[in-house]
Amino acid sequence: MNTTSQFTSNFWNIYIAAIVLLSFIGLAWLLFSQNVVKTPKKGEEVKTTGHEWDGIEEYNNPLPRWWFWLYVLTWIFGAVYLVLYPGVGDWKGVLNWTSHNQYEKEVAKANEQYQPLYAKFANMPIEQVAKDPQAQQIGKNMFDTYCIQCHGSDAKGSKGFPNLTDHDWLWGGEPAQISETIEKGRTGVMAAWGPQLGEERVKDVAHYVMSLSKGKDQYDEERAARGQALFSGPPANCFTCHGDKGQGVQGLGPNLTDDVWLWGGTQKTIIETITSGRHNQMPAWGNFLDKDKLHIMTAYVWGLSNKDGKAPAKKAEPVASPASAPAAASAPVAATASATSAPASAENTAPATDAAEVTYNANEGAVFFFATGKSDVAANAPTVLAELIKSAKDGKRLVVSGYTDSTGNAAANAELSKKRAQAVQAFFEAQGVKTENIELRKPENTTAAQGNNAKGRRVEVKLEG
Ligand code: HEC
Ligand code: HEC
Repeated sequence: MNTTSQFTSNFWNIYIAAIVLLSFIGLAWLLFSQNVVKTPKKGEEVKTTGHEWDGIEEYNNPLPRWWFWLYVLTWIFGAVYLVLYPGVGDWKGVLNWTSHNQYEKEVAKANEQYQPLYAKFANMPIEQVAKDPQAQQIGKNMFDTYCIQCHGSDAKGSKGFPNLTDHDWLWGGEPAQISETIEKGRTGVMAAWGPQLGEERVKDVAHYVMSLSKGKDQYDEERAARGQALFSGPPANCFTCHGDKGQGVQGLGPNLTDDVWLWGGTQKTIIETITSGRHNQMPAWGNFLDKDKLHIMTAYVWGLSNKDGKAPAKKAEPVASPASAPAAASAPVAATASATSAPASAENTAPATDAAEVTYNANEGAVFFFATGKSDVAANAPTVLAELIKSAKDGKRLVVSGYTDSTGNAAANAELSKKRAQAVQAFFEAQGVKTENIELRKPENTTAAQGNNAKGRRVEVKLEG
């Protein structure tokens, strides 16, 4: 028996083969059984069949020749087809044709045809590929095949599916970030706050969210004021992901101030989002689009919001950006190495830029650095701190202490260092660490550096127990 047969017994194979062969024999028999009447000789009367209905008799003419031969040809065609192609039970046909083979051949042919074309673009920078009309056409075809069912034929998205033609990025609009999004996929998770906050407080914080982008007539100021406290502190700590002014932290939580909504900006939907949370998935295409195709796809998507092939002017304000995340994620060793000594004693652990960063070392614990005046946690923290988060989830205790630099008002600094420590606490809670396993401990001296020093703006986290 054929091993690729879908049937476990040979019965159906024989059954189908028998039906096909018997049909052929039956058809041949039918033809010849009806072909017994000879063409009448000249002058000979055509006989009738002998049947008579109300005086109408039926001539017994032979089968027309053209019809006879057409029948025979059809029969032969069918028989030859069944020898060449599958059709009789398990018989594969002498040509060994399968729809799968044919598909593979077509794909191989298309690849052979387009590969040089893709390769040509593979070595061009994204900005240039985005401008190339031919690459645009290829990109559009790919987008129409793989992406429009979710992002729409105009790439403007819909509820839950982001618009790819604007400059409002959840995961970053730099070519490298777009490429990573497409290759590896993304999961956007916003926890359900309904159970923890209760209906009234959800309403309060929703009104605060509305106040960030809407006119005064569209929200309740009293509620918004109460909501702001919830947004900026425990227990909700929305600011850890959405930024202290709701401006968003790339890779953690979207901007809530721009009136661009992924899920909808009405009071009802905002309350729904906060109460029940959101879970969103951009599928990964890495297994599907090879490197060269990914390059063109990235350029196409990048080009949707950078029409003239130019990047938008960079914002002056440095924000926590996951630009460093891929590097840190792919090189955890480097992240560890840079923090082999305690930050207080190591000159070189300070981040080079005024942006949020995080380092981790198994002996010393974690150090969070912050941008000036900010309390946003670095976007790559979940990756860099995976080990620490796991230990804390397993029941070990995290001790969190905040420091600031020595510029500015001392009271404001103390407040800021507390806020940063809370941001870090909220971060660990969001990662699933139990609240009772996190202790906020005020250090003796919260100013840890002289001048505007990035090293000073930090929160240290150590593991105890
Ligand atoms: C099954 C639906 C689905 C398909 C198909 C899909 N996406 Fe997405 N995509 C999403 C969702 C959902 C998100 C938002 C994820 C989130 O909320 O974090 C997203 C996010 C993105 C983002 C990030 C947007 C931002 O603001 O940072 C890019 C870029 C993107 N998709 C490009 C593509 C491309 C290119 C394709 C085709 C190769 C594609 N997507 C196919 C559902 C899809
Ligand atoms: C752990 C990080 C995190 C925290 C904390 C958090 N959010 Fe979110 N929030 C997100 C993410 C991520 C999304 C986007 C989900 C997606 O991709 O679909 C989101 C989406 C939203 C949206 C929908 C935005 C839109 O464009 O439709 C609102 C509104 C919102 N959050 C409000 C809040 C409020 C209010 C709080 C505090 C109670 C809060 N969030 C706390 C991560 C967070």
